[in-house]
Amino acid sequence: MHDLQPYEPGPRMPELERRYGRALVRLNRNEDLFPPFPGMREAVEAELPSVWMYPEESYDEFRAAVARRIGTTPDRIVPAHGSQALIGTLASLFLDPGDVAVTSRPTYGLYAKASAARGATVESVRLRNHRVDFEALATAAAAARAKVVWICDPNNPTGSLAHRDEWETFLDALPETCASATRSPIPSWLITWTSSRSRST
Ligand SMILES: Cc1ncc(COP(=O)(O)O)c(C=O)c1O
Repeated sequence: MHDLQPYEPGPRMPELERRYGRALVRLNRNEDLFPPFPGMREAVEAELPSVWMYPEESYDEFRAAVARRIGTTPDRIVPAHGSQALIGTLASLFLDPGDVAVTSRPTYGLYAKASAARGATVESVRLRNHRVDFEALATAAAAARAKVVWICDPNNPTGSLAHRDEWETFLDALPETCASATRSPIPSWLITWTSSRSRST
């Protein structure tokens, strides 16, 4: 834990606007291009009187609806409050001190932090032409007998999207020690992102 660096969120908007002397619009914090889904505002407003109660914890209806939509069973749907929570859950589930996790460089930083917080060693593989290098990831995972490969697809920050055949070859090449965590449409584990991104998965 001593090696973990604190997260630096960067300057706040008022500070940035002061610095540049003009009104700015922030576009690097998962801002959504779309308004809320139809009916969402009304559904949230209808629940406001009960926000003092502990929230629903089984998510039965939600899990059943998602499972129907993507053609699986509700017991395979694990909702969470944001994908950060799921990333932490996956790290706790699969990683112990001394294990190896493999990720890309650069990519979303929480994968490395969540793995390191579990005491795992993190190996990172450089992107190739701003794209996730699946072949190199599989090679690194096999060499290190990695427990987890974290893949961000589309990759943050480059936005590259993997092809189906890249995924298939990659999943076939993984060592049997390995769980891969992804939010791609062809998952072994699927983390669906909130906001606009979930519309495309
Ligand atoms: C690749 C990636 N995954 C997950 C998250 C966190 O998302 P959430 O708000 O769903 O926890 C971010 C936030 O920037 C991200 O870039």
